[in-house]
Amino acid sequence: MTLCLLREISLADDVLVDERDTSAPVPPRTRLLRNTPVRGTLLSDICSPRLVSSTYFSQTSAIVGCNGVFHVASPVPSSSVPNPEVELIEPAVKGTLNVLKACLEAKVKRVIVVSSGAAVGLNPRWPKGQIMDETCWSDKEYCRTTNNWYCLSKTEAESEALEFAKRTGLDVVTVCPNLIWGPLLQSNVNSSSLVLIKRLKEGYESLENRLRMIVDVRDVAEALLLAYEKAEAEGRYICTAHLIRERDLFDKLKSLYPNYNYPKNFTEGREDVTMSSEKLQRLGWSFRPLEETLIDSIESYKKAGILD
Ligand SMILES: NC(=O)c1ccc[n+]([C@@H]2O[C@H](COP(=O)([O-])OP(=O)(O)OC[C@H]3O[C@@H](n4cnc5c(N)ncnc54)[C@H](OP(=O)(O)O)[C@@H]3O)[C@@H](O)[C@H]2O)c1
Repeated sequence: MTLCLLREISLADDVLVDERDTSAPVPPRTRLLRNTPVRGTLLSDICSPRLVSSTYFSQTSAIVGCNGVFHVASPVPSSSVPNPEVELIEPAVKGTLNVLKACLEAKVKRVIVVSSGAAVGLNPRWPKGQIMDETCWSDKEYCRTTNNWYCLSKTEAESEALEFAKRTGLDVVTVCPNLIWGPLLQSNVNSSSLVLIKRLKEGYESLENRLRMIVDVRDVAEALLLAYEKAEAEGRYICTAHLIRERDLFDKLKSLYPNYNYPKNFTEGREDVTMSSEKLQRLGWSFRPLEETLIDSIESYKKAGILD
């Protein structure tokens, strides 16, 4: 997502761009500060190789002079993690607070924190069929008892961020996207793209007909920029575009790309929650059609040889 956001930002000719070369002998943020004039905005995951531990002061120096910071970085596991407290919760929560403390110290005007629908929707007591909005929070205890560690990490990090904002007066806006697809710009495949790739490659015999909430990475980048630029933006914003059941999604995929190995059966299962992005749309956000997301995603996977 960072690369997409960078592309949107650079198209808007607004702020700095860095290629995040982690193999460089000096950390990317150092090169960034040496070589690039900081014109306004900084992305925490290009400027901080690791969020926790000793990066607090370096983040502070990286952030000095910035009007805004986009905090995108957070661990996103693609499989189960042996020690979730250390591998997920701590980096997400401490990392976010480190960035926020540095922003407060550097008098940054606004910080955009990328949270997730995972911090909104996991609540077993939510009335079935009722649409969720920004007042909804995932139930932390339920996340813990059901081992939904990623949901817990995002819920803890976002709630701590908003608490920090209330306590200190720092202007923090959070954006909560759901499942993000769209063209890959980076060489590694992130977890959410894997969801689509597996649907094309694995030839599932049967799949649960779940409801998916999908949003294009380019529309998420647009939402982050709106949340940054619009003076009236405040609090949380759910960022979701398309509500679609697996069966309908596969019908769409089949009509666009008939030759993949699609599931033969669907089972009916749980009642899924639905969320609304009305608040974000009132800020001026719109999103592209799902077909465009599917085609651009799949074409980018083909180009990268991922579907061979
Ligand atoms: N993709 C989705 O469907 C989705 C949906 C909702 C929200 N989000 C949120 O969007 C953000 C970006 O996710 P993504 O999908 O683009 O996944 P991603 O490609 O895995 O990006 C996660 C980024 O966070 C960085 N990171 C992880 N742990 C870190 C640490 N301890 N210190 C510094 N950087 C760290 C990673 O850097 P390294 O690669 O160097 O580890 C990577 O650049 C995350 O906050 C995620 O929770 C994603």
